[in-house]
Amino acid sequence: MGLLSGVNILLGISGGIAAYKSPLLVRELIKNGSEVRVVMTPSAKDFVAPLALATLSKNPVLSSFTSTDLDNPVWNDHVELGLWADVFLIAPATSNTLSAMAQGRCNNLLLAVYLSAKCPIFIAPAMDLDMFAHPSNQKNMETLSSFGNKVLPVDEGFLASGLQGKGRMLEPKAIAMHVIDFFNPTLPLKDKRVLITAGPTYEAIDPVRFIGNHASGKMGFALAEVAANLGAKVILVCGPTTEKTQHPQIQVKSIVSAMEMFEEVKEVYPSVDIAIGAAAVADYKPELVAEHKIKKKNNNISINLVPTQDILAYMGTHKKNQYLLGFALETENELVNAIEKLQRKNLDGIVLNSLQDPGAGFSVSTNKITYIHSNKSIQTFQIQSKTGCAEAIFDQIIKHDS
Ligand code: C5P
Repeated sequence: MGLLSGVNILLGISGGIAAYKSPLLVRELIKNGSEVRVVMTPSAKDFVAPLALATLSKNPVLSSFTSTDLDNPVWNDHVELGLWADVFLIAPATSNTLSAMAQGRCNNLLLAVYLSAKCPIFIAPAMDLDMFAHPSNQKNMETLSSFGNKVLPVDEGFLASGLQGKGRMLEPKAIAMHVIDFFNPTLPLKDKRVLITAGPTYEAIDPVRFIGNHASGKMGFALAEVAANLGAKVILVCGPTTEKTQHPQIQVKSIVSAMEMFEEVKEVYPSVDIAIGAAAVADYKPELVAEHKIKKKNNNISINLVPTQDILAYMGTHKKNQYLLGFALETENELVNAIEKLQRKNLDGIVLNSLQDPGAGFSVSTNKITYIHSNKSIQTFQIQSKTGCAEAIFDQIIKHDS
């Protein structure tokens, strides 16, 4: 079940360079469970192929009042399209389309649908910075807002003109989030801030070597995506990893060492509602980091290791109203060790995963978890994807935190 399950979205594409992102937007909306149909202006076809959009949306793409089959012409009924849609999302909305909409012009199918649609309408403007700033465009957007349309903000950054500034269309994920928010005003983690540590840490020995571990960051990223999809704003403090996220609600803070992770966590922790330590933080680091690469010789060498800061324990000691969750990767006496850790670090819950379970632990994309609450109630889950585990974990947090 996606956050847009059962929602019919009519995507209107007008002819601007941002239309090259439309296939990603279609995919994003479909991934969230919606049915998508596409209507585009004739000039939009210069920027994105209707076939790509038809293939992704699994629906014919319409761009004119009649179909092109001369033997059997079909009237593309704009009223029917408007009635079918639960939401009409116009992205990108160019300067030309915005002004036509504001003035009620009707010289293409997209505009005709706009004028006849009764559903909520979202508009994602996209244009060059000076066009965007021009009083006519600003006025048109105000007018469209005053008609009850939801005019989305624009992004700032690199523009197709080569200039830098305000006017970029919002990224597809961000646009989808606006629609998701509209249909899910009561997401369980709406307005919550969630801090997640993820991945390994690397502790330098010299400028080229380090002490690290096999953590991939997959579990932490899965937790971040699930939290963001439940409406939270997520700060993901992450050690070296190949994992990536485009989610607009996730802010990634990349670090390398345990000390750097600790510094980020210390800053963010007081302002969050939920904190999860999913990182495999190095327990020890070299006492001294060699300034130059250590040369190979024939004798043995030893490196004196000193403990790193226990970040989770710090959060336990400084806990105010946060719900604090830790992870325990155990190889023996799993339950006993995990409960001991939960108490010692002043946690509200701990997720136990055992390296003895096939398909659990490092690098793999599945995990088998047991959730232990501070009241000692224990919930065991079957082996499942890390996303499935993350969903189960947030189910538990939401149940016990409310
Ligand atoms: O004590 P142990 O390392 O087994 O505890 C694991 C839990 O503590 C994990 O949630 C891990 O993210 C966290 N941890 C930490 N800082 C450390 C070591 C572990 O936050 N230095």
